[in-house]
Amino acid sequence: MFKRPRRNRKSQVIRSMVEETRLSTKDFIFPLFLLEGKKKKAAVKAMPGIYRYSTDLLLKEIESCMNLGINAFDIFPVVDEKHKDKEATKSYDPNFFYLKALKKIKKEFPEACIMTDVAMDPYSIDGHDGLVQDGKILNDETLEILGEMALAQADTGIDIIGPSDMMDGRVEFIRELLDEEGHQDVSIMSYTAKYASAFYGPFRDALDSAPKAGDKKTYQMNPANQREAIIEADLDEEEGADFLMVKPALAYLDIIKLLKDNYDLPIAAYNVSGEYSMIKAAAEKGWLDGESAMLESLLSIKRAGANVILSYFAKEFGELS
Ligand code: PBG
Repeated sequence: MFKRPRRNRKSQVIRSMVEETRLSTKDFIFPLFLLEGKKKKAAVKAMPGIYRYSTDLLLKEIESCMNLGINAFDIFPVVDEKHKDKEATKSYDPNFFYLKALKKIKKEFPEACIMTDVAMDPYSIDGHDGLVQDGKILNDETLEILGEMALAQADTGIDIIGPSDMMDGRVEFIRELLDEEGHQDVSIMSYTAKYASAFYGPFRDALDSAPKAGDKKTYQMNPANQREAIIEADLDEEEGADFLMVKPALAYLDIIKLLKDNYDLPIAAYNVSGEYSMIKAAAEKGWLDGESAMLESLLSIKRAGANVILSYFAKEFGELS
């Protein structure tokens, strides 16, 4: 036997030397949930270790993450039912607590990279990402609202806009508006291949944003489809996206690889709430080693081709590094 692959596994030093993929705190964007008010910290029931914070405490959380080398954050608002309406008007009201908080965060941590989510669901009484009429999700009418939302977010000084709504044409629509208003430097990380997934459950509980009727299958993609991701990625690239995102991550590693192999733009992957909760739940039961399972699954996302990983594990990873 001339070839013995085990020789390259014989010691820790050699194993590290030949290691092809390495995770770093720089790979991560940490999603955070923002509450209205002051001095509030509320646990997310289905996501052990994850909390919703009011602005004052969120600032402290961001600071503690930055001390660990986690410097990018995706911030989602928890919107009280009383603020919701059919047109998601609070999403572009500059006096709304979310937009005010973003301004404060950028002022306090100008060097942090702050990302926001563009979709109607947290602000909509229907709980859909787009405008609902007679049970249908309207595309072009929704674009107008998404545009207002993106502009209002860009006005706060944030760095990356994340359209997560899956309406057709929204990247171009938002890019044009941003440029017209002097926000050429604001990036767009498009949710390019966002699948209609059961793994978003804990997130919808955290934000209380589940659809009141129906599901999201007329805009989010069918988990059975791979080629459709190419159609979406071609469009996003043409429309001016700066990053292409795949979501969820673990059940869609083939899609991450597909986009990595076919596009030159950086690829992001969203390791979603349900993917976090599965590992946490099994670890709490003592059924698997949570830390190793976390590291292995994060590694698999990077190995598949993701340059950027949005993950609720980001801080925990930072604490281990
Ligand atoms: C909203 C949005 C969702 C997530 C991010 N943005 C939920 C959904 O589409 O229903 C899910 C994130 C997660 O599960 O961690 N458009």
